[in-house]
This record gives sequence, structure tokens and C-alpha cells, in this order.
Amino acid sequence: MLSSSVNVLTTFVALLSSISSTVNALPTAAVDLSKRATPPSDDPFYVPPVGFEKTAPGTILRERQIISSFFGILPDFVETHQLLYRTTAVNGTPIATVTTIFKPDWPRPDQFISFQTAYDSSAINCSPSYNYQWGAWQDDLISSAEFLFLQAYLLSGWIVAAPDYEGPDAAFGPGKLEGMGTLDGMRAVSNYRSKLGLSKAKPDIVGVGYSGGSIATGWAAAMHSTYASELNIKGWVAGGIPANLTSVINLVDDTLFSGFLPIAIAGLSKPSAYGAKLKPVIDSVLTPKGKALLDFANTQCAVPNILNFFEQSIFSTDVQTLGRGILQEPTVAAVLAENVLGASPDLIPRAPMLMYHAALDEIIPYADAAKLSTQWCDRGVSIDFITYGAGGHIGTEVTSLPDAIDFVENAFDGTTKKGCSAQTKLDSIFDPIALGANLEPVATALIDFFAKIGRNDSGLKSNLALLKTPAQS
Ligand SMILES: *[C@@H]1O[C@H](CO)[C@@H](O)[C@H](O)[C@H]1NC(C)=O
Ligand SMILES: *[C@@H]1O[C@H](CO)[C@@H](O)[C@H](O)[C@H]1NC(C)=O
Repeated sequence: MLSSSVNVLTTFVALLSSISSTVNALPTAAVDLSKRATPPSDDPFYVPPVGFEKTAPGTILRERQIISSFFGILPDFVETHQLLYRTTAVNGTPIATVTTIFKPDWPRPDQFISFQTAYDSSAINCSPSYNYQWGAWQDDLISSAEFLFLQAYLLSGWIVAAPDYEGPDAAFGPGKLEGMGTLDGMRAVSNYRSKLGLSKAKPDIVGVGYSGGSIATGWAAAMHSTYASELNIKGWVAGGIPANLTSVINLVDDTLFSGFLPIAIAGLSKPSAYGAKLKPVIDSVLTPKGKALLDFANTQCAVPNILNFFEQSIFSTDVQTLGRGILQEPTVAAVLAENVLGASPDLIPRAPMLMYHAALDEIIPYADAAKLSTQWCDRGVSIDFITYGAGGHIGTEVTSLPDAIDFVENAFDGTTKKGCSAQTKLDSIFDPIALGANLEPVATALIDFFAKIGRNDSGLKSNLALLKTPAQS
């Protein structure tokens, strides 16, 4: 198992190195081989300057250039900037977080993509702004693999910005926080436009995200008109969207993916999320085992958590004293209700959307995404909804890439269809040619990954080590 994982990674790394070598090299003098990147918990760049609370959301508080990297090992020779920017906690308090901006050599003019990485973690050192740095310890392959998808947009010529939308305490789950983190990241990039060679005061933006990344993307879409209506957002791509956290809990509890649940409980209990009211409640019902689980979720990335709570139940009284009753506990129930996307008639996306979902998704319920798209269509949103009939949750991120890139292209051109349409694609064979020749290395790496996990993720259980990185194995 382990050696097959190493083989996959060796292939990845070889392919990725061929990608990087096609891009212009940075002067080697800029590369200090002796220093690893500093984790966010120890990096003063993440600490906002005194008085930042008085600045407007999206204000740039700090800036720097970094060397980005595939899996923390291979330098990716693309100009990369980071901005610390002001955003907002769920209760309206000013907070600050970081976005990482990748600028290709000849970017498409006046456009950028906001790429919401699925980092699925409530540990600050698993933030993409760290994970994407050269010399960062790589704790899991989920967010590292997301870098491949980001590369696909970059190699297509767009400037890509990847916000740490979970904010300064890494809160996985709270939709409003992640939506505001995403929209303020877009504002910060727009404010930085002259450094990026963008000339329009309001550059065109498309937001994309899958799975954990589509919590941020879906809520940003929903909050665009009320929170950041000045942004010139041309479209949204939200795949595998978790519209209702309660049904996600019911679906993944006691499965291969139960480990996402302690992460979400930790995330919703963070100070920037619902900590003030939720944390005392959670603390009062946790058993010592439950407390250890949350401590683990607060310090470890997604994959260690999946391995740590594999096929276990958060409804067990070994974990918390309320059993199934936890969902009816008034504070918990109120937080879950506030996080149902589509429930509020005031939060309606303005720009056209591509939504897509695996019919067999074993992590995020298909029915909730379908219901969300119907609710929004009824309220006038233009949505193209694609059902991938053959794939599982992970495989579908790969299968959908050509459709996602097509939609992004059309959204920037303003040529997406008006109104709503739905289609089902039964065949999930991924066609590398569909991406075009310049994306072939990314496509090949993705196909290799795909082959190992199986079309419907059926290979995953027997290949859990695939999710680990060489540093761990
Ligand atoms: C969310 O999902 C739960 C469990 O499936 C369901 O009982 C509840 O009604 C859903 N909430 C909304 C607002 O649809
Ligand atoms: C998933 O794929 C495996 C292997 O191809 C197959 O045996 C299994 O029946 C599939 N499961 C579903 C739910 O389609």
C-alpha cells in the first residue's frame, strides 16, 4: 500500500516538475535553500498591524512575495504574492486573513479567478497560504492535490488568487465567515491591481470551489449583493456543495469520512465563527475522548483526522453525552439552521453559476445541492447544473474540470446561458485532450490520481495511504 502511494507520488512529482520547468525560472539568488517556510502560527505576517480594525473590509494590511511550490518540494516558478487583508467574523468583528495570488507571465487582461481551496481543516497551519509555499510541511494530499486544479486555471492564463477563507483561527464550516473571507479576498486583489498589471478599477472575477471550497464559494455567491455588491463578479463554479451541514453529518457519520465531523465541530466553535455561544455548550457535553478528538482537529490537517476517526460516530456517548440529541440542543440546532445555504430569501446569487455534483457522492448529499439549485432558480438565478452519474465525490472533481474551465471561459465572456438548465453525464472517463495541449501535464497527473481512487472512489478505502504525502510515509 505504502509503496503504491510512493509510486503515485513519484509520478506526480515527475509530471509536475515537467510543468514547472516549462515556466520561466526565478533568479536562483532569490531562493534561500536553508530556510523552510514559517508556519502561520509562528509567522508575524499573519498578525494584523495595530489599528487594522478601523480599515474597510478588503484593505491590504501587509504584502510580500513568496516562492510557491508543488507539495512543498518543487518550486513553482510563477510570480506569487501574498496579502494580509481585513475581513469580518460572523458577529461582525474585524479580523484579518491571507490570500495567495499567482500571476502567470502573460495573464489575461483585467480578469482573475478566486480559487477556494478545499482545505477542510480547523488547524491554522493547514491554511493554503502556508501549504502553497515552498518549504512548507505537507500534512495531507487533499489540499496539495487542490494545487493541481489551481494550476489548470493558471496554465489557462488567468491570475489566480487563493484566499484563506476560513480566517485567522481556521474555522471549517461556517458559511458566512467563509463567504465574507472570499469576497474580501476579491476586494484585496482588486485593491492590489496595479501590482498585478490589472488596469480596470473593477477587474472581472470568477469564483470557483469544490467540496469544502464550495462552502466558501456558495456563500460568497449568496452574499455578493448584500456584502460586496461593488465587485464585478461574472460567474461562480460550485461543485459538490454542502448546502445543509446536518445532512452531511448524517451521511458521513460512521463512514470512511467521519473524521470531517470533529473538524467541523471545532471549526464552528472558533472565536471568529460561533465560539462565544457554541463552545461552552460543546465543552460541557464532550467526554475526555471527545475533547481529545477536538484537540486533534484543532491541530492536525484533514487526512490525519480522517485516519484518526475512521468509521466512528460523533453520536456515540463515548464522544459526547447527548448522543443523537446533540442535533436538537438549541444552540447547536440554531447554528446548523443558520448554515443552510438557500434558506434565506435575502441571500441570492447575482452572477450565473455552474453547479455540479456526483449522483453517488458519498460525502456531500446530492439531494441538498439539487434542492438548492431549484430554490435559487426559482428566485431568478441562472444555473447550469451537471450531474455526474458515474463518479464519487473525489473522482468528480477531476471529471468536472473541463466543464468547469469551459464555464469560467464563458462567464468571463458573458456568454453563459440565461435561465436554468440541467444535464446528466453518465460517462466519467476523463479526456485529457478536452483540456488542450498546454494542460496535458496536469491532466495526466490527475488521471493517474483518478485511476488509483477508482471511478466512484471505490479504490480509496484500500488505498488510504494515497492521501498521505512522501514526508509522512
Ligand atoms: C437540513 O437537513 C436536515 C437533515 O436532513 C433536515 O431535517 C432539515 O430540514 C434540513 N434543513 C433545511 C432548512 O432544509
Ligand atoms: C464502484 O466501482 C466498483 C469498481 O468499479 C464497483 O464494483 C462498484 O459496484 C461501484 N459502486 C457503485 C455504487 O456504483
